Amino acid sequence: MSENTQEANMRNNSGMFVARSLDEIRFWSRIMKEHSLFLRLGFRCEDTQLIEEANQFFHLFERIEQQSHSLTNQADPEQIRRFNTEVQQAATGIFLFKRKVLGLILTCKLPGANNFPLLVDHTSREANYFRKRLKELNEGKLKPLADAIIKENVFFLRIMADHAKFIGHLLDPSERKLVDMARNFSNDFDQLVFQAVDLESMKPQSQTAPLLDQFLDQNRVSVVSLRDFKKTARDLIEECKIKSIIHPLLADHVFREAERFLEIIDMFESHLTGETYN
Ligand SMILES: [Fe+2]
Ligand SMILES: [Fe+2]
Repeated sequence: MSENTQEANMRNNSGMFVARSLDEIRFWSRIMKEHSLFLRLGFRCEDTQLIEEANQFFHLFERIEQQSHSLTNQADPEQIRRFNTEVQQAATGIFLFKRKVLGLILTCKLPGANNFPLLVDHTSREANYFRKRLKELNEGKLKPLADAIIKENVFFLRIMADHAKFIGHLLDPSERKLVDMARNFSNDFDQLVFQAVDLESMKPQSQTAPLLDQFLDQNRVSVVSLRDFKKTARDLIEECKIKSIIHPLLADHVFREAERFLEIIDMFESHLTGETYN
């Protein structure tokens, strides 16, 4: 490889590193900011300390989000590396806060509070995912494609299954049709999670191009219909056409997470078709 090609490759890689990092931070810092809001809304009036902590995380991630939008893909990779480390610390902080809250709920220290334990656990898994992604980016370690496909799908399918459960439980029980639909999505995604876990346990023999391709196709079909269901629910909630205790921002939040999963599936699909696996 000539000196010039090597240099061009390095420039290209650092360009990718900057773009990838900013994309992750822009998406997930907004998500973390919103989690802080949802947690706060679920606390009781007397939980002033927890409310204060949640507010601090809200402002912290709001600042991070603003900063990520002020940076461009031409930013200095060193500066982005430092930014990633800083954001990773913030993500660790909110992860620990969520686990602490989960502990308080599960030991019945917050009777009457309105955050489901599964929702708190779920948001902590998302924080952990964000934290690990930034660490991977900074260490320049990319998982082999076949491993990444299975791992990301196991993670996101479970996230989608949880969303269906939250929607089902936060809709008013009198919205029988919608509650039924949410329950069907929950069952569908539970099945997909098990399928993904089975494929994972059959690794590496299961990592053939046809199997991975079919796996992605099947998941995409279900995620598209869940995404559409979430979009409908979001619109109905915004227009105040259905009875629920779902915050309109939560409805939009879970819709955006489904969109994110779809983008990831499409990205994998395009990489997969460009490579040979056997
Ligand atoms: Fe979330
Ligand atoms: Fe989520």
